[in-house]
Amino acid sequence: MKEKLQALCTEIETAMAEVATSRGLYELKVKFQSELKGVMSGMRDLPKEERPAFGKIVNEYKQDLEEKFETRAAAVKEMEMQAKYAAERIDITMPGKAYKAGALHPITLVKNQLIDIFAGMGFKVFEGPEIETDYYNFTALNTPKDHPARDMQDTFYLAENLLLRTQTSAGQIRVMEKEAPPIKILSPGRVFRSDDDATHSPMFHQMEGLVVDKGITLCDLQGMLAEFAKKMFTSSTKVRLRPSYFPFTEPSVEVDLSCSECGGKGCRLCKGTGWIEVLGAGMVNRRVLENCGVDPDEYTGFAFGMGIERIAMLKYGVNNIKTLFENDTRFLEQFEE
Ligand code: DAH
Repeated sequence: MKEKLQALCTEIETAMAEVATSRGLYELKVKFQSELKGVMSGMRDLPKEERPAFGKIVNEYKQDLEEKFETRAAAVKEMEMQAKYAAERIDITMPGKAYKAGALHPITLVKNQLIDIFAGMGFKVFEGPEIETDYYNFTALNTPKDHPARDMQDTFYLAENLLLRTQTSAGQIRVMEKEAPPIKILSPGRVFRSDDDATHSPMFHQMEGLVVDKGITLCDLQGMLAEFAKKMFTSSTKVRLRPSYFPFTEPSVEVDLSCSECGGKGCRLCKGTGWIEVLGAGMVNRRVLENCGVDPDEYTGFAFGMGIERIAMLKYGVNNIKTLFENDTRFLEQFEE
């Protein structure tokens, strides 16, 4: 019987060394316990006086083997954990995934730059509504219903007196109605006209400026524009004013900048003239001041309005306005900083 017990223990011990999983070890332990029961049931055949001594031996073997099971279980568990760690290992030295950050659209870049330049001269930003009344967009700007100047801007009407603003000039009226001079505002925003070709889009952006105070003259306008041209383009950019007509200014001027491409010598961009037209401006018409309750004998002012797309096209050498609205990332990526 003792031999049988020894053989069983040796067999289990050998098998134990080969089992490499917790599950396998558990199954082996169950097998050992049931076989040990078999051995113990053989005790019945021993003479009564030998039974206690044999029982003691069985217990010793059992205890010894259980300890070995425990040791082996700890080793197997450790092996299993190591394998799990190896499988789940994250290589923190691997380079990270690069996520593409968005960038500002060239229109936004130019708008921000314009705001920066004029804010430096003391202008505050005012944003008016895109849906305007006929009064703010035209009538108060000295352009009543039958005025021929209305033909200069092909308007989208929403109702008889409601329209998509054709110019940010509407903001001038809103500001002057609310605030008393001195006024120095900048009004950026979207405007809409039924116009569509390589240099015109039905929706585009303008930047309006308005200065009203005592003693403002055309020289102030010219000086401020000269400063703007240098900051927006190059330090050698020159400004030229040509007589023009807008109902809301008197006198009115068309403002040209010396061509940034050829420096004024004449090239394809400036059509050989050396100058490029960039914006409209003038001294605020006294009728406009009166419409807003500002006394034109006490105050004078100047105003200007420019197309942001036009500035962006000149600055970045874009020749079709549609390129700015197609959102082709190959084009837009060039403006990432
Ligand atoms: N609103 C004019 C346009 O859209 C541009 C303009 C011209 C604005 C003269 C002005 C100005 O403020 O004084 O064509």
